[in-house]
Amino acid sequence: MNEQIEAIQTEALAQISAAADERSLDDARVAVLGKKGTLTLVAAGIKDVPKEDKAAVGQLLNAARTAITAALEEKQVALREIADRAALAGIDVTLPARSQHVGSLHPLTIIRDEAIRILRRMGFALAEGPEIEDEFHCFDALNTPADHPARNEKDTFYFDSGKLLRTHTSSVQVRTMESQAPPIRIIAPGSAYRRDEIDATHLSVFNQLEGLYVGTDVSLPDLKGTLEYFLRELFGTNTEVRFRPHFFPFTEPSFEIDVKLTVKGQAPKWIEIAGCGMVDPAVFEAINKSRKDNAFDPEKVTGFAFGMGLDRLAMIRWGIKDIRLLIENDARFLKQFA
Ligand code: PHE
Repeated sequence: MNEQIEAIQTEALAQISAAADERSLDDARVAVLGKKGTLTLVAAGIKDVPKEDKAAVGQLLNAARTAITAALEEKQVALREIADRAALAGIDVTLPARSQHVGSLHPLTIIRDEAIRILRRMGFALAEGPEIEDEFHCFDALNTPADHPARNEKDTFYFDSGKLLRTHTSSVQVRTMESQAPPIRIIAPGSAYRRDEIDATHLSVFNQLEGLYVGTDVSLPDLKGTLEYFLRELFGTNTEVRFRPHFFPFTEPSFEIDVKLTVKGQAPKWIEIAGCGMVDPAVFEAINKSRKDNAFDPEKVTGFAFGMGLDRLAMIRWGIKDIRLLIENDARFLKQFA
C-alpha cells in the first residue's frame, strides 16, 4: 500500500506540474482527490490494513494529501499570474486613467446658490410660493390695476379657471406678508412666466430672485447699500452700480439698477439687472385688508423690495450671449461650468 501511495503522489505531482491551464489543473485534482480519485480510493482501503500498520499508513496518506494540495494551490497561483499577464499584454498600464464624467452644476444653479449665500449672510431668509397663482397675489395686492398691460392675455398665461402662471415672484412677498408680521426680511428665488417671443434675450419661463425687507426704519439708503453690496459680492468689489428712476406699481420711488460691464476690447456698457424700490403704502393697505388687521400700518412700517433675473445675472457673469443656451442642455455648453 505504501508503494501505491507513493506512486499516486509522484503521478499526481507530475500531472499538476504539467497542467497548462486551470482546467487541466482541475482535472488533475479530481483524478487524485475527487470522490473516485486515486488517493481517495486507496484511503478507503485503510480499514483493511493490519492494526499495527494503520498509523504509519495513515501518516503517509496525510503527507501525500498535504503535498498534493500544496502543489495544486501553488500551481493555481502560477497559472493565474500567467493568465493576468496575457490579458495585460499590449496594454500600457502607465497611461493616465480615462476620467469619469460625473456632470456638474448648471450655471443657473451656481449663480442662484451664490446669490442666496450672499443675501442670507445679510439676514434674508428663504421664502417660497406657488407658481400657479391667482390675480390677487400676482397683481391686485401689488397695486397693479385691472387695465395694467402686464395683466393682458397677450402678456400672461391664464388658465380657464382664472388662475395664472406667476409673472414674477413678487407674489411670494404678498404671501409672506399675509402670514408673518414685520420685521420681515426674505428672498424668493423661483420661476416666472411671461408670454414673450423667444429670442436671444427672452424666454417664456425665466428665473427670478426677489427680496423684501419690511420694518420700522427701513429707508432708501438701506435699499441702495444692500443691493450695492450684493452686486459687488457677486461681480467683484470694483463693480460700478447705478440706480435709474423707473416706475413699478408696487414701489414708490422705484428704480432700475444697472451694472457697468467691461468686456476686454470693448467699450464699457451699462446693463440693466434689477428692479427695486420702496414698498408702496397701497401694498401695505391691501395686505392689511387681506389679513384683517393693521400689522403693516403704513404710518409705522416701511420696506424695500427688489427683483432680478437670475438668467440675466448668469449671462453677465459668464458672458453668455444667448439665453436659450441655458435651457438647451447641450453638454458642450454645460461642461464649461464643471
Ligand atoms: N417684480 C418686478 C419684475 O418682475 C421686479 C421688482 C421687484 C421691482 C420688486 C421692484 C420691486 O420686473
